[in-house]
Amino acid sequence: MEFLNWNVNKIIKMNFPNHLTGIRNLDLKDINSIFQLTKKYKSSIINKTPFEKSLNGKSVINLFLENSTRTRTSFELAEKKLGMDAVNFNGQSSSLSKGESFLDTLKNIEAMKFDYIVIRHSDSGIAEFCTKNTTSKIINAGDGINEHPTQGLLDIYTLKEEFKELEKLNVCIVGDISHSRVALSNIYGLKKFGVNVSVCGPISFMPKYIEGLGVTVYTTIEEAIKKSDALNILRVQLERDAGSLLPSLSEFSKYYGITKKRLSLNPDIKILHPGPMNINVEIDYDVSVSKNSFIFGQVTNGLAVKCAIFKLMNNN
Ligand code: CP
Repeated sequence: MEFLNWNVNKIIKMNFPNHLTGIRNLDLKDINSIFQLTKKYKSSIINKTPFEKSLNGKSVINLFLENSTRTRTSFELAEKKLGMDAVNFNGQSSSLSKGESFLDTLKNIEAMKFDYIVIRHSDSGIAEFCTKNTTSKIINAGDGINEHPTQGLLDIYTLKEEFKELEKLNVCIVGDISHSRVALSNIYGLKKFGVNVSVCGPISFMPKYIEGLGVTVYTTIEEAIKKSDALNILRVQLERDAGSLLPSLSEFSKYYGITKKRLSLNPDIKILHPGPMNINVEIDYDVSVSKNSFIFGQVTNGLAVKCAIFKLMNNN
């Protein structure tokens, strides 16, 4: 059987960063290298071509201290496809529950000589903290309301696949912007490609600094739909007390929910959602499975993006 194989040195023309803590500090060359490799990995995933186990012998711990379906599963699958020794850390059954500190946990993980730590945590900045307190390479899988770089990258890759050219594309991020690490990673990344980025949602969901990031703010969903080529729809993050900023979820849904009727204002608009979706709150089921929706394609792209990131970090 033929194994997936190519010369990664043709793609890596510069040193890739040691850590991936956010898109803000990735340059366009790094992102384009990720996307070139993503395309190759995606084709292997779709065609079910066995992977060359090019990270065989490398170890990784998936340190998820917040829940996850897509990110954790796709990281683990990417790690296994590349031949890594992958360990999943379960926060609830760990000694964190006995009062051990996060730093001590990190030091114990370091003592086991993991090559990579993939971290998800409710504290903004924890990935950066890890880079300063361990020798492992750190990949941020979502830190508080700061960044979710692999999600941002897979979202942008999905847009690039569909539209080819990103410059001057109009992309609107809709919903709970103030609690969203996905929003920030998308804004940082899309701006690097010259995308016209906008946000839309109730004013209580708009951080005060938002216009300083060079994005347009729409307060009505109708205007956002009419003026955009694509929407990236976010859920209301109730676990971060976002509900206290709204009269009710049904009120949010009434004014900002994406319905088939609203899509008729711009029938060709593309719909993205990072998941998890709260169906019939920010998005109707019919929209999520419509021809406009790229939501499940995003998940496939997420697996390929993670393979590309490991490969590039391993070759730096
Ligand atoms: N998009 C995302 O981060 O989904 P999970 O929380 O399921 O990983």
